[in-house]
Amino acid sequence: MKSEQKFKIKGGQELKGEIRVNGAKNSALKILASTVLTDQEIIIKNFPFIEDTQRMLELLEKLGAKIKQNKEKKEVIVSPGGIKNGRLKGELVERLRASILLVGPLLAKFGEVNMTYPGGCLIGKRPIDIFLDGFKKMGAKIEWSDKGFKVFLNKSKLTGETIFFPKITVTGTEALMMTAVLAEGKTVLKNCAMEPEIKSLADYLNKNGADINGAGTPTITIKGVDKISAGTFEVIPDRIETGTFIMMGLACKSEITITNCIPDHLGAILPVLKKNGANLEIGKDFIRVKKGKMLRAVSVSTHEYPGFATDLQPPYTLLMTQANGVSLIHETIFEGRLFFTDQLNTMGSAIVMCDPHRVVVSGPTGLYGKTLTSPDLRAGITMVLAGMIAFGETTIENIYQIDRGYEDIDGRLNSLGASIERIK
Ligand code: EPU
Repeated sequence: MKSEQKFKIKGGQELKGEIRVNGAKNSALKILASTVLTDQEIIIKNFPFIEDTQRMLELLEKLGAKIKQNKEKKEVIVSPGGIKNGRLKGELVERLRASILLVGPLLAKFGEVNMTYPGGCLIGKRPIDIFLDGFKKMGAKIEWSDKGFKVFLNKSKLTGETIFFPKITVTGTEALMMTAVLAEGKTVLKNCAMEPEIKSLADYLNKNGADINGAGTPTITIKGVDKISAGTFEVIPDRIETGTFIMMGLACKSEITITNCIPDHLGAILPVLKKNGANLEIGKDFIRVKKGKMLRAVSVSTHEYPGFATDLQPPYTLLMTQANGVSLIHETIFEGRLFFTDQLNTMGSAIVMCDPHRVVVSGPTGLYGKTLTSPDLRAGITMVLAGMIAFGETTIENIYQIDRGYEDIDGRLNSLGASIERIK
């Protein structure tokens, strides 16, 4: 969906002060999907009020759940008792790739799910074969139609199985872990993703009756149980927001303090930034970005967690336009996640695309304000950062793609001294 709203950014402002990291989008979306496993009310704290979580709440509501939202308290309460079937149809499903997360829990609960093909942004339209192969291995049947598919069971329960992921997949791991919680017998998931959001989801489910072992490692074992209850879940801080704000402070050559974060969740990001020469003070739950010498260019390859996060590749690529030297950025996870560099080049950067997975960045280069269009969430926030360091004025179009994952980003960055105007 294209948004009518735009950002107008005046570049060159120095930032100062504190910015609080919000709850992680990619944790909140999964806990929302898991609510289907139970009939009981769940209270979700530190909830990020962003477009993607709103779409997921709308989907749950359409299924029959009752939702109460309190933005000031950063709290959402979901009562899933009214969900009576697995009908995932319509525009909402086509707009949100994360809707695929609901299939497993709905299948485990109702034995049948009818779904339109899930979609999303430029990079959101990716395969779902690994999910469907997993459901089939656990005993489900699949029927295809022009617009979607039906997954169903010819027996009362899914059966525990050993499933080896051919590729490491984050939502695939989470989806099958949630599906297996109510299956008959033991499921072993191998070659799993290891993101902190997966461990956090497993810890919550275990607290409420599940029997999951090994989340956060490559092998997860799930013993099926009859029932899952619910309680309070606190969304963990968003490690991608954290990394984005560090890179923003460095790119703007400013001193800022990032609070309410878990530096340990950043994996390879901090060691790489150290090699760049970044002047960072790392606390237990804060990171202070300090002024320092000009950064050195360092090449990176994106990698599954705890490697260098693909979601932080776009802001890092921008940062390398401000560093001294030449770096190779190798995007190994998603094709299409480097195409935004074309737009950075219109601002004056010197980025050469070798192939859809690799660019070479030469720096430092000055950037000049331009009009850009946000193709996806992480490229979109990177364009905001580019506008903040550019000479003159930058306009960013299609900012729905930024609002999908960053709550009140203009307000929060303006409170640090940025100059971002939202044009409605
Ligand atoms: N893949 C398949 N078949 C599948 C599933 C995935 O081929 O059935 C491929 C994908 O096309 C991709 C690779 O496997 O090439 C890995 O994708 P993965 O499934 O891990 O991605 P995801 O789970 O759909 C999550 C995050 C992404 C993040 C990636 C990688 C959520 C809701 N999304 O996506 O977040 O980039 O993991 O870390 O958790 C974002 O927040 O901007 C975002 C895109």
